[in-house]
Amino acid sequence: MLIEIPALLSKKKLAEIQDILSQADFVDGKLSAGQAAQRVKNNTELPQDAQQLNRLNTLVMNTLVQHPLFQNAALPHRIASPFYAKYGKGQTYGEHIDDPVMGPAGQRYRSDISCTVFLNSPGDYQGGELSIKTQFGAQEIKLKAGCAILYPSTSLHQVNPVTSGTRLVAVTWIQSMIRQAERRELLFELNQARETLMREQPDNATTHQVDHSYVNLVRMWSEV
Ligand code: NI
Repeated sequence: MLIEIPALLSKKKLAEIQDILSQADFVDGKLSAGQAAQRVKNNTELPQDAQQLNRLNTLVMNTLVQHPLFQNAALPHRIASPFYAKYGKGQTYGEHIDDPVMGPAGQRYRSDISCTVFLNSPGDYQGGELSIKTQFGAQEIKLKAGCAILYPSTSLHQVNPVTSGTRLVAVTWIQSMIRQAERRELLFELNQARETLMREQPDNATTHQVDHSYVNLVRMWSEV
């Protein structure tokens, strides 16, 4: 299941993020990649000790974690600090799956869901689509500035070569309370029905049954 979160970041936040990133020093993205990914990764990233990270994370992550669509689709347990990546002309991230376990010792998390937040306009660069293999074929994702995409970390994916301009993204990973993508998808859909019923027929017995089923399924399947 690919979930798009439209208009996550306001124009004002985006302008501040772009301003910060335009003045920042980036380093080779291979430094943060696992062995297999190093061979296909060709981009630059903000170093993980960069002084700008606190402000960037406040702007990007606080907004993401509070978004109801993110909460309902991801059912997050742990959320990683994001990487801020820049792809210039000729840069790419070849086909790979993301590392299964990330984070420093003592703060390890399992990556269940990968998230890319697009930080500049699709008109600012050619190429650079995030291409995700799904059961329905490859989906090419290139969203407006400030939009985000969530996809299962188990998916094979790549960033197509940027042929001109600069692509800016934040990428992060989520350990979900619900490990299996199929179960998250089912709960996401059931929750949509539940929210509609609660809004339109809050006193109906059927609404209560659907609500209880949802809540108890989350209890049955969640790992925290
Ligand atoms: Ni990846």
